[in-house]
Amino acid sequence: MKIRAAVLEEFAKPLEVQELELTEPKDGEALVRLVACGVCHTDMYTASGVDPSGYSPTVLGHEGAGVVESVGPGVVSVEPGDHVVTLFSPQCRECIHCRDDRTNICLAIRDQQGKGYLPDGTTRLQRDGEEIRHFMGTSTFAEYTVMPEIALAKINPEAPLEHAALFACGLSTGLGAAINTAKVREGSTCVVFGAGMVGLGAVAGCRLQGAERIICVDLSDDRLELAKGQGATETMTGGDDVVERIVEETDGFGADYTFEATGNVGVMRQAVEAARMGWGLATVAGVAGKGETLDIVPRLLITGRRVAGSSFGGCKGRDQVPEFVERAMAGDIDVAPFVSHKITLDDVNRGFELMEAQDGIRSVIEFN
Ligand SMILES: NC(=O)c1ccc[n+]([C@@H]2O[C@H](COP(=O)([O-])OP(=O)(O)OC[C@H]3O[C@@H](n4cnc5c(N)ncnc54)[C@H](O)[C@@H]3O)[C@@H](O)[C@H]2O)c1
Ligand SMILES: [Zn+2]
Ligand SMILES: [Zn+2]
Repeated sequence: MKIRAAVLEEFAKPLEVQELELTEPKDGEALVRLVACGVCHTDMYTASGVDPSGYSPTVLGHEGAGVVESVGPGVVSVEPGDHVVTLFSPQCRECIHCRDDRTNICLAIRDQQGKGYLPDGTTRLQRDGEEIRHFMGTSTFAEYTVMPEIALAKINPEAPLEHAALFACGLSTGLGAAINTAKVREGSTCVVFGAGMVGLGAVAGCRLQGAERIICVDLSDDRLELAKGQGATETMTGGDDVVERIVEETDGFGADYTFEATGNVGVMRQAVEAARMGWGLATVAGVAGKGETLDIVPRLLITGRRVAGSSFGGCKGRDQVPEFVERAMAGDIDVAPFVSHKITLDDVNRGFELMEAQDGIRSVIEFN
C-alpha cells in the first residue's frame, strides 16, 4: 500500500514527508494505522546525525498510538480493531530477560531492530524498489506502520490515543523509574532533577507511590510550575550549589530517592550526591553524550548510597503500558498538560523546532 511518511534522507537536514510503499505484515507482525505520535528527543538526536548508530534513509518516530488494521500469520495477541501503543522496547515474554522480573530489556529482536530491520532481517518500507529502513522498530512518523506483535501494547479502546501515545516513551520512562526501578516507598523524600517529559513522569510516579516530599529541580520556572501540577511539593532552580541546598532542606542527610532526567552527567553526579547516606538510591534515566562518564566519589557508595539506571522505566511494555493508560483514565495521571502542541505530519520539523526552543513538553502529530 501507499503511505505518507516523514523520511530522514540526510543527517542535519529537515525530514521529508513523502509517499512510500509499505508491504503486508509477515509472520508475527501487524499493520497499524497511526492516530497520534509524539515527537521525542531521540528522533531529533538521530536526525541531527550525532547518534553514532544512526542511519538513513529511514522513517523516524517511536511515540505512536493507533489501531491495528490487519495481522500477519501466527499473530495471536492483537487483532484488527485493537487500539495499541507502539513499543521500542518490546516484550516477547519468552527470552531469559522477559521471564525475569529484574529487567525489562527483551532480547528477542534487539540486533535486527538496532540495524533498522524487522525480526526476519528485511524491511516493509520501500521507495521505487529501494529499501527504507525502520527506526527503533517503530517508524511511527507515518500514516501506517508494520511492527512485530511483541512490540504492541493493547490498550483500552476508550482511551484518547493522543494521550496514550505519550506512554510509548517519555512518560512511562519517568513513571517506571519511580515505580519499577526505585520502587519508591510510602512517606519518603524524593528529588527529581529535570522537569521534561521524563522528569515530570518521575514526579507523578513518586506521588503515586505515596512519597511525602517531592522536590523537583529544573532551570525553567514554567516547567517547575508543571511539576507542581504533577505532585511536586517543592521546587528548586538547578545550579552548582543545588546539592548543598537539598542536603540543608533534608535535615543534613539528603533524599531517600533521587532521579536524574536531564542527560547531563554533571546533574547525574548531583543526583548521586543528593542521595541519602545509608540507603539513598539515585536512579539515572537521562541519556548522556557519547563518551561521557559519570564521576562518583567511591566513599559515597561505601556509606550506603546506590546508583541504578533505568531504560524505559524498567517497564515490561505489553503488561504495564495498558495499566498506566488505565490509571490515566481513572484520573491518577494527568496527561493533558504534557500535550503542548498538536501538529500534522507535514509539520514534523516544526515539532523539532519547538523542542529545541523548549516550547512546551510534547508536540503530538495527529493523523486524519
Ligand atoms: N532511559 C530511557 O529509556 C529514556 C527514555 C526517554 C528519554 N530519555 C532521556 O531522558 C532525558 C530527559 O528527557 P526529556 O524528554 O524529559 O528531556 P527534556 O529536555 O524535555 O528535559 C530535560 C530537563 O532538564 C532540565 N535541565 C537541564 N539542565 C539542568 C540542570 N543543570 N539542573 C536541573 N535541570 C536541568 C531542562 O531545563 C529540561 O527541563 C534525556 O536525556 C532523554 O534522552 C531516556
Ligand atoms: Zn522517546
Ligand atoms: Zn523477551
